[in-house]
Amino acid sequence: MRIDILTLFPEMFAGPFSESMLGRAQENGLLSIAVHDIRAWADNKHSKCDDYPFGGGAGLVMMAQPIFDAVEAVDPDHEANRVLLTPRGKLLTTARARELARCPRLLLLCGHYEGVDERVMALMDEEVSIGNYILTGGELPAMVLTDCVSRFVPGVLGKGESAEEESFSKGLLEYPQYTRPADFRGMAVPEVLLSGHAANIEKWRHEQALEKTRENRPELLGTFGKYYENKGK
Ligand code: ADE
Repeated sequence: MRIDILTLFPEMFAGPFSESMLGRAQENGLLSIAVHDIRAWADNKHSKCDDYPFGGGAGLVMMAQPIFDAVEAVDPDHEANRVLLTPRGKLLTTARARELARCPRLLLLCGHYEGVDERVMALMDEEVSIGNYILTGGELPAMVLTDCVSRFVPGVLGKGESAEEESFSKGLLEYPQYTRPADFRGMAVPEVLLSGHAANIEKWRHEQALEKTRENRPELLGTFGKYYENKGK
């Protein structure tokens, strides 16, 4: 999968994309991420990319011209699914991330300041928000989306790791995990996990997942609750 990111702050992306899973996925050729500085396409003397909003109001708006030229240069034949990261977009979910992972190309436009000139929407396919809070720009959301979508690209997760078997995919939060030692500072690992009894372990994990979901995200049980309450019986 190829992901092109258009931003006014390309330096922000260096660390997160070169480390860990995303770094390895790029080395292995599963993922190709290119970060582009929108400023390079500004056709004015000072590479200005923002201006005052027509009609007044606080803050600056990202100008259409540099974005149009950048998108047309990076994705001339509109092969990419083009996404604007903005708090007014549709919420990113596991289901949507799984769908986006099937696109051969994504183009992510990071919004900034008080917004983006609305005419840019003529170029875009969709608007995505990563949560009900406002960040200072679309860069962190673009990183979150890239990370979240990459997990569903075949081969990105290591052998034995499944993008599905984690919190949310089954509608429940994850059960607690432990590793060695079995006793750490007097805190013992639950007996059942040391028992080797697969069915009991599965039952315990299911109960724990249910309890954690009830405690932290009870609204998730609205949809899946009945199924899971019954499954354990
Ligand atoms: N830009 C600022 N806040 C955002 C959010 N929550 N999601 C996507 N883009 C954003």
